[in-house]
Amino acid sequence: MKIDVAQFCPKLFDKAYNLEKINEIISASTADVIVLPELATTGYFFTSRDEVAEYAETTSGSTYTQWQKLAKDKDIIIVAGFAEKTEDKLFNSAAVIFPDEEFSSVYRKTHLFYRERFCFDMGDTGFNVTDYEDKNLRLGTMICYDWRFPEAARTLALKGADLIVSPSNLVTDVWHISTPSRALENKVYFAVANRIGTETREEEELYFNGKSAIYGYNGQLMAKAEEKTEEIISAEIDPAQTRNKSFNEFNDIFNDRQPDLYWQD
Ligand code: ACM
Repeated sequence: MKIDVAQFCPKLFDKAYNLEKINEIISASTADVIVLPELATTGYFFTSRDEVAEYAETTSGSTYTQWQKLAKDKDIIIVAGFAEKTEDKLFNSAAVIFPDEEFSSVYRKTHLFYRERFCFDMGDTGFNVTDYEDKNLRLGTMICYDWRFPEAARTLALKGADLIVSPSNLVTDVWHISTPSRALENKVYFAVANRIGTETREEEELYFNGKSAIYGYNGQLMAKAEEKTEEIISAEIDPAQTRNKSFNEFNDIFNDRQPDLYWQD
């Protein structure tokens, strides 16, 4: 199974440009799964809820609908960030779209980073895994800053994920230390789709530093993008290899857990 991670520079608030670019990238892909950055259709640096409300869409909107059609036509799984609105809420969401639309859903970002708390509601989906038998893949999704919370990856892994994907807009480099560890300790593949470029609002600049990466289930780097270039990185993965969590005849990283002795909130 081939996974593509697409790194590009969305233009802030230019949904037409971003969506056309994203759809071109997806149309050109030969992968089974493609992952795109967080808030890929709008850009990142919102400063108010009113702004989000202006650009956000429901899952009946044209973005989600176009991606569903592309996923079906191309037999590809698409995970991409977008600003989502519901009747009364605004979410920093990822569309998780399968060729068979019955399996498609959204993940709504749980841990809100920096000024996001003034613009979005906290996600209410929790961390979910979709078992997509047609491709023999169990897929779990988180978004960007969720990486700081090992519970996110652990929850997805305990729910059976083979591959964790993370649409991201990362502004630090430290995640490169933790993400391979999350892959290793959970024995899962882990793919991070970061963006590049800068956005400036009210004299504050955010710099997004690319270096999107795909890690194998032993934490090894399988593919990595440059810091400043738009590019697609790819890896061949074998999801079923992640399901046996033993690493010698006596130890199994999930069976050996001792949850009764761990801190419970
Ligand atoms: C982030 O959560 N966009 C850093």
